Amino acid sequence: MGAAVAIVDLDRQFGIPGIASVVEGNGGLPKVRVTSSQASGEMYLHGGHVTSWKPTGADEVLFVSSRSRWEDGHAIRGGVPVCFPWFGNKRDDPKAPAHGFVRTKAWQLASIVQAGDTVTVSMFTESGQNTKTWWPADFRLVHRATFGSDLSLELVLTNTGTTALRFEEALHAYLRMGQIEKVRVRGLDGVHYLDKTDQNRDKTQQGKVVITSETDRIYLNTSDAVEIEDPVSHRRTLVAKENSCTTVVWNPWVQKARSMSDLADDDWRQMICIETSNVADFAVNIERGGRHSMKATVRVAGF
Ligand code: BG6
Repeated sequence: MGAAVAIVDLDRQFGIPGIASVVEGNGGLPKVRVTSSQASGEMYLHGGHVTSWKPTGADEVLFVSSRSRWEDGHAIRGGVPVCFPWFGNKRDDPKAPAHGFVRTKAWQLASIVQAGDTVTVSMFTESGQNTKTWWPADFRLVHRATFGSDLSLELVLTNTGTTALRFEEALHAYLRMGQIEKVRVRGLDGVHYLDKTDQNRDKTQQGKVVITSETDRIYLNTSDAVEIEDPVSHRRTLVAKENSCTTVVWNPWVQKARSMSDLADDDWRQMICIETSNVADFAVNIERGGRHSMKATVRVAGF
């Protein structure tokens, strides 16, 4: 079956006239496009990846690189990549794909549901022969994105195997900023973090986070929301979370951005990643048959 035919079939099966449709996105990849009275948004089957959320009357909230690749085997650069079942490099296998294998493969569409003014798109991916090359576990992972005046994201992992399993996860949100140097991140004061730009040294946040160089930090044992003040865009972005004990803050700054082929040279200025996660010592253990849900909610307001 050709890709275009598959997209038409998916649209026929899941589309909601005037509200949600399955269409061809960048690189010919299928995406769900949602337009409701409260927001518009987009989610690709590739990676179960949300790439756009625009509350009615507001500007786009998510950053997506103009140089992103849109193809099987590569992660979309921007939006909200799903990192699973490990974060960063796999500890015991340097050849394994960074941030796990689900962000680079096609997921399946499970449902599109309209409820009041919101629309929820659910996609899933499961273990199979290809995932077992990297990780032996049996699992089903669902990503449920609700587009409304908030953007609500939920990752649900079910252990479908016969043994307990342990995994890391992140909703790696790229948020669009006016000018990163002017941005301030509240909500992490006093929290310990591992500084990945300084040999993973354990440090303590003092006051608001200010980005003045490459920043790559895993804030530990924190379930509080963070708020990003962006005076240039006159916008405040809140990221609240549930069942998440770590928050990663990442900005590549000048040099690292230059070394990344899928980021334009100045993109580092217009983005910050706030990653709702359970990583490092906060990886999740799930008994056989068990289920774990982690949620992130994004909201914007004037500043
Ligand atoms: C962040 C990591 O989550 O993702 C960084 O903390 C990493 O170390 C960044 O550089 C981007 O990763 P990738 O694999 O998408 O280039």
